[in-house]
Amino acid sequence: MAGGPTTSELVVAAARAGHVAQLAAGYRSAEAMVDEIAAVRAAGVEVFGVNLFVPNVHPIAPDDYAAYARSLAGDAERLGVAVDAPVTEDDDAWGEKISALAVDPVPLVSFTFGLPDAADIARLRAAGALTAQTVTSRDEARAAEAAGIDLLVVQGAAAGGHSGVWAAGARPAERPLPALVAEIAVDAPLPIVAAGGVASASDVAAALAAGAQAVAVGTALLRATESGTSPTHRAALVDPRFRETALTRAFTGRYARALVNHFVAAHDAVAPIGYPAIHHLTRPLRAAASAAGDAERLHLWAGRGWRAAREAPVGEILASLIP
Ligand SMILES: Cc1cc2nc3c(=O)[nH]c(=O)nc-3n(C[C@H](O)[C@H](O)[C@H](O)COP(=O)(O)O)c2cc1C
Repeated sequence: MAGGPTTSELVVAAARAGHVAQLAAGYRSAEAMVDEIAAVRAAGVEVFGVNLFVPNVHPIAPDDYAAYARSLAGDAERLGVAVDAPVTEDDDAWGEKISALAVDPVPLVSFTFGLPDAADIARLRAAGALTAQTVTSRDEARAAEAAGIDLLVVQGAAAGGHSGVWAAGARPAERPLPALVAEIAVDAPLPIVAAGGVASASDVAAALAAGAQAVAVGTALLRATESGTSPTHRAALVDPRFRETALTRAFTGRYARALVNHFVAAHDAVAPIGYPAIHHLTRPLRAAASAAGDAERLHLWAGRGWRAAREAPVGEILASLIP
């Protein structure tokens, strides 16, 4: 979980409790990723993963970008920031991160937002890493297998945060996680990790019964003692004023599931497709909202099972999810 919730402490505590946890390399420099890997190893943990954002630019027309920036002016003014960055379409330091992980491999490297080149996958596998690919459909699963991926992370639409869907502007299919897992498991020879909306031991049991070999959670850990979730985000997760989640492009120009707050209500309908440009455009506004404790203008990532997220040590939360 990039953007703060995943800390090296969270990964270490989950690993000590017998789970495989992943560091979030998204939005970070390659150096920061390497430092976090060192911190996990220094704590004596050897089995863990690193999650990367695959460069998959969804370009945006300058006029659409400018129009969306104008529509954010009221919120920006209220927070005392400017929302006027030029269009930025970076690759999240992909090449540096792959090189660092090829030189000094970790046991598991996972990808979201798109499929890496087969050469990059092969490079990491040759270095000794297992590779995992987030997929949201059967077509994506087949392409991942053909590219040499070792295991699939099948992500349902109930998942908190960004959808890993590959196509520009596509909305992930709305279907229960067990149904999606079963559809992909039918002809996928690769092991499946199921993710999205898992909030109880019975959700885990249903995903395993549908054909998954393992289950992953995100939202369930947002209030964990060891997570780095901001105080404003933590408080919003138990604030009765937030009553539902929605898949929205309003924050980053790519579909992500968040609690419905003022920002979503005001901007979702006009939000363009445009990742990572819209992510960079709204970033100062979101940073100011976080600093000001303004939950109405912050991206409150949450999966559909958010009400079950508890404040407890990660080991305790994960133990309660075992069927
Ligand atoms: C706050 C937050 C941040 C996330 N960041 C990432 C990320 O950096 N990379 C990624 O592959 N998935 C990310 N996800 C999605 C998770 O990997 C996973 O698919 C999702 O949390 C599963 O659904 P759940 O939140 O309902 O448990 C994030 C999810 C949340 C809630």
